[in-house]
Amino acid sequence: LPQQPSETGSAPIIRKKLNGYVGFANLPNQVHRKSVRKGFQFTTMVVGESGLGKSTLINTLFNTGLYPPKEPLPPSAERPQTVAIESISADIEENGVRLRLTVVDTPGFGDFVNNEESWKPIVENIESRFDSYLEQENRVNRQKIADNRVHACLYFIQPTGHSLKPIDVEFMRQLHTKVNLIPVIAKADTLTDEEVADFKARILADIAHHNIHIFQAPTYENEDEEALAEAEEIAGQIPFAVVGSDHLVKTLDGREVRGRAYPWGVVEVDNEDHCDFVKLRQMLVRTYMEELREYTNDVLYENWRTQKLVSMGVVQDQSVFKEINPASRMQEERVMHEAKLAKMEAEMKMVFQQKVQEKEAKLKQSEEELYARHREMKEALEKQRADLEDKKRRIESGRPLTPEKTNQTRKKGFLRA
Ligand code: GTP
Repeated sequence: LPQQPSETGSAPIIRKKLNGYVGFANLPNQVHRKSVRKGFQFTTMVVGESGLGKSTLINTLFNTGLYPPKEPLPPSAERPQTVAIESISADIEENGVRLRLTVVDTPGFGDFVNNEESWKPIVENIESRFDSYLEQENRVNRQKIADNRVHACLYFIQPTGHSLKPIDVEFMRQLHTKVNLIPVIAKADTLTDEEVADFKARILADIAHHNIHIFQAPTYENEDEEALAEAEEIAGQIPFAVVGSDHLVKTLDGREVRGRAYPWGVVEVDNEDHCDFVKLRQMLVRTYMEELREYTNDVLYENWRTQKLVSMGVVQDQSVFKEINPASRMQEERVMHEAKLAKMEAEMKMVFQQKVQEKEAKLKQSEEELYARHREMKEALEKQRADLEDKKRRIESGRPLTPEKTNQTRKKGFLRA
């Protein structure tokens, strides 16, 4: 068989045919056995306005009674609301596969006059879970890392039949880079089929318009037709129009189903003709749970981790570069040294020029002073000479000196005598 250059550009890959069974085809089974032994951890979060049926849907989804069933309330009593971020965990097992399921229920928003920053505690909760994972990764012993990161977030949209509200857009924009967003239309039994279809189209248009990234079922090359059809079918139902119910009701034909009974009939939760609950469960639990975990780890957590480390001042690329490439490091150091020398030279030149300028200014000043003194002395001498000449002229002409001067001369003569 022909040799092919490897992707890394190093040794070429030689393709060979095996002459007999070696056994590595059993690798998927080994991975399967190991995963089953270790069990899985999955955390899902529910977000949305108050009273949209978040707690009810979680109970319906995992069929565990994760939340204690709500007793029928007397008309005067207020229905309990979720008031803080609560997380409930349960170990569930199905056909020998163990799953540690955690549900993070968030308080419904939209009840306050100002709902502007109601997304903050939810984003903080998601980030603190990333923080705790990062902290465990950095420990000396990393054998048992508990993965409490949120792998999927069901975002509940009120069944208004219009389009997304500004608060929905804001929430999703804050969340979509940190968590796998799965939008659902809550209480879909309050809308007709036609209204659901229109509403879905408008929601998807809004999501695209605001560049919000929602979780998409991935498709791979060489995937069989069945898997492709399933992925397409699931993707075609997003946002899922769901109905939740945690108790059984009797249908007109006498069956006991999970559903909601109305005077005109029963809405069955597990009936695909009635709502998209089955499709949602298929996506979240049966088909893409591992994909959701993988995307959270490889993309969402990785991006967050990079940003966090960079903001802490860790410059990974440079340090790796220096460690693995000493020649480049020396070159880099040489360039830095030369730059330092050039800077020192420039500074010295500047200081020298400054000193020369100062000296020049001083010399100029003393020169001016000298000139001024010279001029003064010259003027004084000129004056003295003029006086003497005047005196001489007077003596020669026999004219008496000025009275003042005569008196002075007399005084001097008297004193001398
Ligand atoms: P908060 O905890 O306040 O955020 O409420 P929540 O979103 O958890 O809502 P919860 O599950 O407590 O349900 C609120 C009400 O809606 C209850 O009376 C439920 O019976 C009802 N409900 C839940 N799911 C559905 C649904 O799919 N359709 C209809 N029509 N009602 C529902």
